[in-house]
Amino acid sequence: MKKLLFIDCCIRGEASRTRKLAEAFLSALPQEYDAEWLDLGTAEIRPLDRARYFAREKLLDEGKLADPLFGYAKQLAEADVVLVATPFWDMGIPAMLKTYLENVSIAGITFSCDEEGNFTGLCKAERMILLTTRGMEIPDGSEMEQATPYLKAICKFFGIGGFETVSAWGMDVVPPEEAEKRLLCATTSARELAQSL
Ligand SMILES: Cc1cc2nc3c(=O)[nH]c(=O)nc-3n(C[C@H](O)[C@H](O)[C@H](O)COP(=O)(O)O)c2cc1C
Repeated sequence: MKKLLFIDCCIRGEASRTRKLAEAFLSALPQEYDAEWLDLGTAEIRPLDRARYFAREKLLDEGKLADPLFGYAKQLAEADVVLVATPFWDMGIPAMLKTYLENVSIAGITFSCDEEGNFTGLCKAERMILLTTRGMEIPDGSEMEQATPYLKAICKFFGIGGFETVSAWGMDVVPPEEAEKRLLCATTSARELAQSL
């Protein structure tokens, strides 16, 4: 079986439009995939405050990569496909997702650095797929859209070669029927993308 890691940042749960894209995607996932659900809304993932930062540095200095603190990094490194579903917040990603990424950015697990300062990604996944919805009229590729460029950079850093975004935008500003139409269109794209895996 191949492993798909579903990083779920759909904070509004059942009410989330982005979650609908994720549900469509997962419902069309080929049988050889096993989806592992990581719900960032309930996971014990905390920002690196001073105490956590130094505790983590100590473990890294001691080479203790088997510590449970690095479990999420290992889970990401071992996934064959990474699916991220997140609403668009403040021109980028919610802090919860950024916090997750800080927690999984671990030398020796998701990336490595040699003595000459060359970085190499260590993640096995060939692609990351971003499912997202935006409230304002901010289309893909807009300079106001900073979620995709940031996640693309993270993928490059972690060695994840491919990146695709499926989105619907204008959700909070266009008439409800139009928002529904756009969401439906993105839902179809999400389903087709899953089928093509
Ligand atoms: C805290 C917060 C910040 C947001 N920031 C933006 C933003 O910067 N740009 C934008 O287009 N929409 C923004 N929105 C609107 C959401 O992107 C939009 O409602 C989206 O469809 C929510 O996804 P969901 O239904 O999956 O929760 C924001 C919403 C919230 C709650």
